[in-house]
Amino acid sequence: MAQLIDGKQISKQIKDELKIEVQKLKEQGTGICLAVVQVGEDPASTVYVNNKKKACAYIGIESRAYELPETTSEEELVSLVEELNQDDSVNGILVQLPLPEHINEDRIIRTISPDKDVDGFHPVSVGRLWIGEKGFLSCTPAGIIQLLKRSGISIEGKECVIIGRSNIVGKPMAALLLRENGTVTIAHSRTRNLAEITRRADILIVAIGKERFITSEYVKDGAVVIDVGMHRDSENHLCGDVDFKDVEPRVSAITPVPGGVGPMTIAMLMNNCVETARR
Ligand code: GUN
Repeated sequence: MAQLIDGKQISKQIKDELKIEVQKLKEQGTGICLAVVQVGEDPASTVYVNNKKKACAYIGIESRAYELPETTSEEELVSLVEELNQDDSVNGILVQLPLPEHINEDRIIRTISPDKDVDGFHPVSVGRLWIGEKGFLSCTPAGIIQLLKRSGISIEGKECVIIGRSNIVGKPMAALLLRENGTVTIAHSRTRNLAEITRRADILIVAIGKERFITSEYVKDGAVVIDVGMHRDSENHLCGDVDFKDVEPRVSAITPVPGGVGPMTIAMLMNNCVETARR
C-alpha cells in the first residue's frame, strides 16, 4: 500500500501554525490585511476567492474584497492596484485570474508591488526565486515542497521529473526542487518518449492538464507521485492527471485528488500573507 499524502491534514496543520503566529503578531500590534480583487463573476473564480476569504478568517487575517464588474477597464484595474500598493493598511494584493479578455493579465501582475505580491507571480518574485534570494514563492509549488517535507520524503539527490512548464506550476516547481538539491527534468507537450523520462523519476510531479493521463506505465516502482490536476470526469467525479487506481499499487507515496495538492495552495497563500508581516 502506498503512503497517501494527505494535503487536507497537512494544510490544516500549516494553517493552525499560522493562526498562532498571527495571534502573536496581533499582540505585538501587527495586523495583516489581504486585498482580494475579482473582476467578473466566473463561478470557479468565485469558489476560489471565497475559499481564500474563509482561510483568512480562520487564521485571523483581514480580507478586503474588491468585486468589480466584468466591464471594468484595464485602466480602472491598474488604478485600483496602484492605490492598494500605496495603502499602508494593505499587506498583500491578490488579483484572481483569469481576468476578462480585454484586460492584459501581464500588465496587472507587473503593476502589483513585489512587496505585496503574495501570489509570487511578479517577474521580480520569479527572478528572486531563481537566483535564490528571499521573496514570495508561487503557492502551488511551495505547497508541494511542504507536502514532501512534512511526509518525510527527502528531495536531496533525487531524480525529480515535472510534467508541465507553466509559469504558475512547472517552472517555479523546477526552481524549488533545485533549491532542495533535487536533479530536475521538465517534460512538456512536445517531449519525445515521455514515459521513458517519467520512469526515471524518484519524484514525479504531474501538471499536464489531462484527465487520468498518467497510468502505471509512466511510473517506476516505488516512486513518489504528486498530482496537480483537477478535473470532473464524465460521471461527475473529481479526478486528477494521474489514474490513481492504476498507479497507486506501484508507488511508495501518492497524493489523492481531491485532498492532495489543492488545499496546499491556499495554505501557502496564507503563509505568504504572514510573511509580509514577518519582514
Ligand atoms: N487562478 C487560479 N489559481 C490562481 C492563483 O493561485 N492565484 C490567482 N491570483 N489566480 C488564480
